[in-house]
Parts: sequence; structure tokens; C-alpha cells
Amino acid sequence: KTVSIIGVPMDLGQTRRGVDMGPSAMRYAGVIERLERLHYEIEDLGDIPIGKTEHPDDEGSQLNLRNLKAVAEANEKLAKTVDEVIKRGRFPLVLGGDHSIAIGTLAGIAKHYKNLGVIWYDAHGDLNTPETSPSGNIHGMPLAVSLGLGHPYLTNIGGYSPKVKPENIVLIGIRSLDEGEKQLIREKGIKVYTMHEIDRLGMTTVMEETIAYLKERTDGVHLSLDLDGLDPNDAPGVGTPVIGGLTYRESHLAMEMLAEAKLITSAEFVEVNPILDERNKTASVAVGLMGSLFGEKLV
Ligand code: ARG
Ligand code: MN
Ligand code: MN
Ligand code: MN
Repeated sequence: KTVSIIGVPMDLGQTRRGVDMGPSAMRYAGVIERLERLHYEIEDLGDIPIGKTEHPDDEGSQLNLRNLKAVAEANEKLAKTVDEVIKRGRFPLVLGGDHSIAIGTLAGIAKHYKNLGVIWYDAHGDLNTPETSPSGNIHGMPLAVSLGLGHPYLTNIGGYSPKVKPENIVLIGIRSLDEGEKQLIREKGIKVYTMHEIDRLGMTTVMEETIAYLKERTDGVHLSLDLDGLDPNDAPGVGTPVIGGLTYRESHLAMEMLAEAKLITSAEFVEVNPILDERNKTASVAVGLMGSLFGEKLV
């Protein structure tokens, strides 16, 4: 029971400043103490350095890939760090930072598994490519990159591609997709629980199905949790809020069911933006969810 915390103060995958303070906010909200109370041995590896300047001459700006170079460099470092954590037999817990960091996290993890599963808990699919992205923001692209789609600077991070197979991915909480993302989901047959399915089936069934589905086909499961998957009432400190989201209660239930299933082998919590937050509420919610994911129980 050993966990390594890696902070990634990345804000170059989108245009709102402040999400680089996410790792500090989650540390301040007590993530280490919270997990130590559950008798985990915690090591905090500190933060991955992020290039602070947004190079105006970055070739990415002509390719609809804002800050391509700096995002790629930071993710390469993150991949290395995550890889070493897994080699040492520890659980990587990555704190973001915008969601572009999933590129590096998955690059560090996926080579250790034959069939890595991914739970993408998010309002968005993050399945854009430079061709389909309406924004040029790389935080809207990491899942596509991990499928091998996008600029080679990103898809080749860690020295291999793709990282995950479409049939090993489950999206949960989805309520905002761009046209190209919808097409890709249909084309690849990716499993998606939109808010519609969550309302119809209930979170219990959604998680039972997700766990059964991933258990039979994967040898490890990464949880990539974007705080904007939650409703903005429960998690206001995010850069791209979408109304009609997952509640605090549904999200805790989901984490508790994952803990009981002993399914998750790595995790990241991303998009916490303290500047947009109310008294560090979103970071506190994130840390509470980590508590449930790691087995916290009321009695
Ligand atoms: N689909 C939009 C885009 O590509 C929003 C993506 C939001 N992603 C996120 N990780 N919050 O720009
Ligand atoms: Mn900055
Ligand atoms: Mn999102
Ligand atoms: Mn996301």
C-alpha cells in the first residue's frame, strides 16, 4: 500500500490561467493526511516542471495545437516519472493541472500493461484532433492522442503509440461533445455513459456495468477524473464547466464502488482551478473523492 503523488502544474493545454495551482490546492486540502489515515505509505514527488513561456514561434500555433512544444516537453517528463513510479511497484496518483497531462500519465503507465483500461470521468470526451478541435486547446485532445490520433510530438511521447485500445475505454458523465468527437466514438465503438444513461440507469448500474466490462478485458485500469465531470454546483473551480453534471453523491458512490472492486491501478485528478473556485471547494471535493477511491468508509 504505497502511493506516489506527482503534481503537474500545467496550464498550457487551455487558455484560462490558474489551473497550474491545482496541485497546491489539493495538497492544501489535505490529500497526504487523508491517505495516510487510510494507512497508505505516501511519498510526494513534488511537481513536474512546466515551461513557463508560451513560445510565440511554436509551430503548434499554425497547426491548431496551442503551446504544442511546451505541452509535449512537460508530458515527456511526466511519462518518465510515472514510469519510474510503476517500476518501483508504487501506485501513481497524479494531480493536475489541465487534462493535457493525461497524455504523459498514460504514456508512463500503458507500457506496463497488455490491455490497459481507462475510465474517463468527464463532461467532455477529450477526443479531438487538431483537425476537429474547435479551440486548438490540447486539453480537449488527450484521449484521442492516447488512441494514436494527433500530432506525432504528442502521440509518440514515451516512444510508442497507441497507448490504449478503443474497446478498453469507458467514458462516464459525458454531456459536451464536438462533432468530430461524436464521429470518432461511433467509428471506434467506444463505450460511453452520457448523462442520459446515468439518469436512466442510475450510477449503481453504470458502475456495475463498467467494472464488469473492464474486469474481463483489462489487466489494469487508469482512472482519469476531470473535476468538470461533476456538476458546477459541486465543483465550481474548473475552466470549462458544463451544467447538468454528476453530483457529489453520485461521484462518491462511483469511487466507493471502484474501491470495493479493487480495479484501479493508477489515477489522476485534473482541471482544479483555484482562481475560479469558491474557498477551495473543488480541491476539497477532489481530495474527498480520492479518500473514497482509496477505501475510506464511514463505519
Ligand atoms: N471540447 C472542447 C475543446 O476541445 C472542450 C474540452 C474541455 N476539456 C477539458 N479537459 N476540460 O476545446
Ligand atoms: Mn502560465
Ligand atoms: Mn472536461
Ligand atoms: Mn477533460
